[in-house]
Amino acid sequence: MILDPGQAEVVRVYRALIELVVPRPIAWVTSIDPEGRINLAPFSFFNVFGANPPIVVFSPTLRRDGTAKDTLENVRSTGEFVINLAVEDLVDSVNASSADYPRGVNEADRLGLALAPSERVRPPRVAASPAHLECQVVEIRSYGEGPIAANLVIGRVVLIHVDDAVLDQAGSVDPRKLRAVARLGGDFYCRSTDLFTLRRPERPPDSQPPAGPAGDPRQ
Ligand SMILES: Cc1cc2nc3c(=O)[nH]c(=O)nc-3n(C[C@H](O)[C@H](O)[C@H](O)COP(=O)(O)O)c2cc1C
Repeated sequence: MILDPGQAEVVRVYRALIELVVPRPIAWVTSIDPEGRINLAPFSFFNVFGANPPIVVFSPTLRRDGTAKDTLENVRSTGEFVINLAVEDLVDSVNASSADYPRGVNEADRLGLALAPSERVRPPRVAASPAHLECQVVEIRSYGEGPIAANLVIGRVVLIHVDDAVLDQAGSVDPRKLRAVARLGGDFYCRSTDLFTLRRPERPPDSQPPAGPAGDPRQ
């Protein structure tokens, strides 16, 4: 199959991209509007892009009618959000919170999800989620004006919460305890429990060991 985004329908291009760029982690985002009304919605156009400073990006695309989603309006006007980790036990609520509720409706309330206050930002956290990233908006970059146009919400992580119950003895997050879920194309999701490990090479196999002390931590 060959697909030329310049020729194909937007929806066809969108489908191909979400089927191919997989698996995508899910940011389950709490935000507030200028009146302090809480909003909760999932976004799988999401990832981390650096740690110094810690930068995450997610993209609430424009709706099919070209209007902005509530989350985008909220982060534009109030400049803060929280990423709640989407995990297996919560996946039904994650999915349910993606329904198109009218603006101002608190999806967490509707779904009976308890919220906990954040420490550095105003939007609260989903209490049942095992980890949260409290974020301040650095910049929003928009590309395009029509349906499914990208709006890159670039955020700086100002506080990280992790439930001790998902840590191993060394203090690292144990993926078997975290049980994060990710998004594929169509209605497919995947778990993060089918694991294998692979050590990164210290150096190219045909090179000499470096003379000095070990270099930077590997990414
Ligand atoms: C798992 C999952 C991932 C999603 N990812 C995105 C995404 O990356 N970008 C987006 O615009 N919508 C995404 N959606 C749809 C939004 O969650 C949905 O449009 C929601 O109503 C937006 O809510 P809001 O208007 O309250 O911000 C996703 C839905 C699900 C179930």
